[in-house]
Amino acid sequence: MDRILIRGGNALAGRLPISGAKNAALTLMPCALLSEEPLTLRNLPRLADVDTFGHLLNQLGVSTLVEGARPEDFGRVMTLRANRLTSTVAPYDIVRKMRASILVLGPLVARAGEATVSLPGGCAIGNRPIDLHLKALEALGAEIELAAGYVRATAPKGRLPGGRVHFPIVSVGATENAIMAAVTASGPTRIDNAAREPEIVDLCRCLVAMGAAIEGIGTETLEIEGRERLHGATYAVMPDRIEAGSYACAAAITGGALELVGARADEMRATVDALIAAGVTVEERPGALYVAAKNGIAPLELSTAPYPGFATDMQAQFMALLTRANGASVLTETIFENRYMHVPELARMGADIRVSGRTAVVRGVDRLIGAPVMATDLRASMSLILAGLAAQGETQVNRVYHLDRGYERLEEKLSAVGANIERVSDG
Ligand code: UD1
Repeated sequence: MDRILIRGGNALAGRLPISGAKNAALTLMPCALLSEEPLTLRNLPRLADVDTFGHLLNQLGVSTLVEGARPEDFGRVMTLRANRLTSTVAPYDIVRKMRASILVLGPLVARAGEATVSLPGGCAIGNRPIDLHLKALEALGAEIELAAGYVRATAPKGRLPGGRVHFPIVSVGATENAIMAAVTASGPTRIDNAAREPEIVDLCRCLVAMGAAIEGIGTETLEIEGRERLHGATYAVMPDRIEAGSYACAAAITGGALELVGARADEMRATVDALIAAGVTVEERPGALYVAAKNGIAPLELSTAPYPGFATDMQAQFMALLTRANGASVLTETIFENRYMHVPELARMGADIRVSGRTAVVRGVDRLIGAPVMATDLRASMSLILAGLAAQGETQVNRVYHLDRGYERLEEKLSAVGANIERVSDG
């Protein structure tokens, strides 16, 4: 199994390219199910999750063609074509690897009149049920059955009628499923308390490019007029705001200065505001975001919230950053109930963090010390990379497959801006 070795202490400096957004890619790829014509996605990140999603779509009969990608390029162009579906089943083997597989449920039932998807089961960052996905599809007219670990959704007359969806809490994935199911319904749909994440805006824009009729994009109320069919399109995946935020923290924790090429401040305002509140310099430059920290890190009080609030996907990285603050910070996780698994690992590197329920108090320490560590999820793994970049001595981050799910060529990007980092393989 691969490991990442970091010798900490180098201030990072230079230009670092930001890849296409993982979470946008994972909701844009299933849009291919909605049309017989090809969907071409540009700026698709090279990530394990994107490959896994591609395999899932292949099993349903969608062809995926990757064009002109040279090994030295970041990002890929993929053409997905679902002219004839050969299966409507997303099997356990794939769904257990990647929760986002549930995002085929809405578009599959819309296209084929039925869909069977394995229940995702538990996951490292909490319970993560799919009840809201199912309630939304029911509101659009699907019949839902649960049996033998699978959920089956059917459209009684072969096509969903559409309807009114009101989400009791904001869910990114359930909003995405509802949108994808509604765009080809026979009637109109209204979605209240929709998630407003930039990835949802990206999804809506791609669907509009495919001929969908969606009003209220970027707001909490979406009105969708179902269309008989969608056509093909070419669409570029948005830049990854979480990757950009993670590397902004890398600049900050090492006292360095990075130009994050392709990052868009308006899609990550809460992260930018938190960095500025911590005393970090953040400047918008044409096509890039410049982040520099020269005067130490000030402590913060931060609480995660749905967009436009502070992203839960940035919590672990800020926790790493705040271990080096001059004072005590308070972090509150309101989205997932079990998202502090990085805390004991950061503590092994010398961090002073006390967790009580959903709140963590982080007291800044003078130094972190390298250690062998491992994490159980993607962003937690990134928090250990950040701590390793700032720590004295060597940090060995195990279970690198988590990072490969969400950070395109991490060690290459970081070593190009001065980090002492390498991947080693036991084999
Ligand atoms: C997406 C992101 C993930 C991010 C999260 C919150 C993808 C592939 N993943 O995950 O990186 O951390 O948004 O920004 O885009 N919930 C229910 N029932 C449901 C669905 C969700 O109770 O049916 C709860 C969840 O347990 C959680 C909250 O709703 O407490 C928000 O989760 P949700 O927004 O659905 O997250 P995901 O779409 O899974």
